[in-house]
Amino acid sequence: MSFGRIPDNIIDDILNRVNIVELITGYIPLKRAGRNFKATCPFHHEKTPSFMVSPDRQIYHCFGCGAGGNAINFLIKYERLEFLEAVELLAKKSGVVLPENQRQDPKTSSLTVQLYKINEITALFYKEVLGSTNGLSAKLYLEKRGIKEEAMKLLQLGAAADRWDLLINHLRAKGINLSLLEKAGLVLAKDGGGYYDRFRNRLIFPISDIKSRILGFGARVLDNTLPKYINSPETAIYTKGRHLYGLDLSKDAIRESDRVVVVEGYLDFIVPFQAGFRNIVASLGTALTVEQARLLKRYTSNVVMLYDADKAGEIATLRTLDIFIEEGMNVRVVSLPQGFDPDLFVRKNGIDNLETKVRQAQDLFDYKLAVLRSRYDSREVEGKVKISSEMLLTINKFKNAVSKSEYIKKLSESLGVGEDALLQELKKSKGTVYPLEMKKENIKKIMTVSPTEKLLIKLMLEESELINRIKDDIEPADFQDSRTSRIVSIMFDLVAQGKKIEPNLLAGHLGEEDILQVICESTFLPDVSYQDKDKIVDDCIQRLKKQRLQLKRQNLHEQIKDAQHSGDEERLHRLLEEFQFLIKRGE
Ligand code: CTP
Ligand code: MN
Repeated sequence: MSFGRIPDNIIDDILNRVNIVELITGYIPLKRAGRNFKATCPFHHEKTPSFMVSPDRQIYHCFGCGAGGNAINFLIKYERLEFLEAVELLAKKSGVVLPENQRQDPKTSSLTVQLYKINEITALFYKEVLGSTNGLSAKLYLEKRGIKEEAMKLLQLGAAADRWDLLINHLRAKGINLSLLEKAGLVLAKDGGGYYDRFRNRLIFPISDIKSRILGFGARVLDNTLPKYINSPETAIYTKGRHLYGLDLSKDAIRESDRVVVVEGYLDFIVPFQAGFRNIVASLGTALTVEQARLLKRYTSNVVMLYDADKAGEIATLRTLDIFIEEGMNVRVVSLPQGFDPDLFVRKNGIDNLETKVRQAQDLFDYKLAVLRSRYDSREVEGKVKISSEMLLTINKFKNAVSKSEYIKKLSESLGVGEDALLQELKKSKGTVYPLEMKKENIKKIMTVSPTEKLLIKLMLEESELINRIKDDIEPADFQDSRTSRIVSIMFDLVAQGKKIEPNLLAGHLGEEDILQVICESTFLPDVSYQDKDKIVDDCIQRLKKQRLQLKRQNLHEQIKDAQHSGDEERLHRLLEEFQFLIKRGE
């Protein structure tokens, strides 16, 4: 694999200087565990820590979900960085100077880098339109909604004119090709050929990630036509439900105040934010996702939900509550007067009143109970059953037994139902306590790599000398798993070039997650004692050879059957001879 224009030795240099334990401690708390450090995995949901960091090997590995690799791989996964960005960041941390010419030219750079660039150019264009006659109605609309000039600038608000091809023409004039624009989700293909602008006659809200890179756009109508908002489709850089609007601007305030207020819409973010209410984000649409909850958890565990006071907002709040609880976060809820959203509330009652509302936010338990009481009659048995079973679903989401029991007590008191009965129901409650663990993508991929192959890789990683010694006895093809044989072949290459072999450096040469997983699993196998090493190596090699021969025999056997079937006498004869030869050699 090549690294763009960063030479391998510089990558190795960076990896040698960085301390992965220090790096990861900056993101999640690590606890010592023998020679290693452990934590609950940031990449999947778990109760007991199976995420290990090895200071000796400078790699991390989660035994639960299989994630693993070196410091670069960690940053790519945790911070969602590009390879080059992760390298740049670590270079800065470790004082390594990168060669000047490795910065990428947008025309030759990866698709994602090109899409960021296109979005940036597009946002600038929409901003220009907003300041021009083509954007006059959008500008008037923003003013009518009380958006200040300063906020327009900060959020890079813009306008799409009431035309079919303004953006296309603008970007084409810059030499950007149309298929890229389509990949960026900015244009749509016409039936009869050609393209047209996706966003027309709308207000434009660029959507950024935490590093203020523009991922896509939301676009609001200026009147009451429907749909009110249209958004960029999912692209190579934009996945819905993974980002939070405004977080790049509010993350410092969130960290400082150790609290975040979550609203639904663009304007619900902008209006309070421009009034100085800074620890706020918008989920854009209703249901918040687990990814978004985790994104917030990097900055604070204290959430205040401030959704619209309508039916949709209420349902979304209830669903989102559970997500935050499952992530172990503390949630409180603000109920605005019916029909209000945060934007309208601030415009009518002022920011101070919103701050008061947020300070007085209700405990999630009280909130949910109040909602349920408004839906069902809590004096009737049937109502009690409905309310308690709904409440138990949420109570079940708490990981802490004390919290569970405290809430059971509260529920028992407020419904006039015995605690025992509630506890019994809690046991029956089908509430999936850790639904994430059941999600396919989070289940560890089944590793079929044989222990022998992994053990041999571990030993080779510990001792490059061993590779020289066994190079003549064994070849990459002796490894049955395509991943291990790839790893071995790269190790052989590196040794031939006189390079050092270490798990973290090797991981630098192999970016694919499933291959990293094999490297990590091998590295973290229990150590073998020094005296036994030679014997174990010999043993492994014998086994691999045996395994290979067995496969060869099997293969020959199949071919013989095939030749018998097809009546190819000559081929059959040759194959049988070969088979006898194998047997005669005692193999
Ligand atoms: N939304 C969307 N598509 C829609 C409707 C809503 O993507 N058709 C998202 C937008 O991000 C919007 C949020 O859901 O900001 C909340 O929707 P809503 O409350 O209807 O919009 P507001 O933000 O309140 O918009 P406005 O105040 O301009 O009417
Ligand atoms: Mn609104």
